[in-house]
Amino acid sequence: MIGRVPGGRMGRDQGGGQFDGDRSRRCRLCQSASGVVSLVLADSVEDGALVGFVLPFGPEEAKTYWQGVIRSVAEGERLLLVATVKGEIAGTVQLYLSPEPNAPHRAEIFKLLVHRKFQKQGVGMSLMMAAEMEAKRLNRSLLLLDTVLGGGAERLYRRLQWREIGTVPHHFVDPYGNPKSSVYFMKHLV
Ligand SMILES: CC(C)(COP(=O)(O)OP(=O)(O)OC[C@H]1O[C@@H](n2cnc3c(N)ncnc32)[C@H](O)[C@@H]1OP(=O)(O)O)[C@@H](O)C(=O)NCCC(=O)NCCS
Repeated sequence: MIGRVPGGRMGRDQGGGQFDGDRSRRCRLCQSASGVVSLVLADSVEDGALVGFVLPFGPEEAKTYWQGVIRSVAEGERLLLVATVKGEIAGTVQLYLSPEPNAPHRAEIFKLLVHRKFQKQGVGMSLMMAAEMEAKRLNRSLLLLDTVLGGGAERLYRRLQWREIGTVPHHFVDPYGNPKSSVYFMKHLV
């Protein structure tokens, strides 16, 4: 099951979603979601995933990162989707709504993460499909993302008909400091 962590300034909510409610309830839900998604992030970094962090990576760094995400969600800058399997948080993805006045139609996909325990069961695919549906609902018709060249996520995006824009050699290093290249993708939602 995919749910959206509540967000949006008071009176400017992004509209609907199973978690919506009064502000204090929404904040509590945000905080509890951030605790669990921290574990998913830590699991990915420990597994060597290229998701913006290097080892050593501890719970404090994960918490700081998610607190920033939760603030951004509360401000209405991005959506945070969370996948649950039998009540357990299995994965997450973010849809960042490009704020530039000349890009009201654009959004970016950040941090598609599925805990190792739940990988290869279709959770990643479901999260991406949900993110695309949310983008469509918000009239964001152009989506962008980048990922490590040759990784599992690249196959997933290609399966979902994302179009390659190009590659960047030595774009970043993996959690162990090894150089890695990235591939950029775009998708027009019709
Ligand atoms: C990349 C990632 C998000 C994929 O998540 P996932 O939930 O495993 O994705 P899916 O299950 O939808 O698809 C993954 C594979 O499982 C297969 N699969 C899906 N359902 C399956 C099932 N029921 N039984 C067997 N295999 C299955 C898919 O065909 C796919 O195969 P492939 O690896 O040969 O292409 C996950 O591996 C991850 O979090 N990695 C670390 C973080 C990361 O790199 N994120 C990307 C940032 S851009």
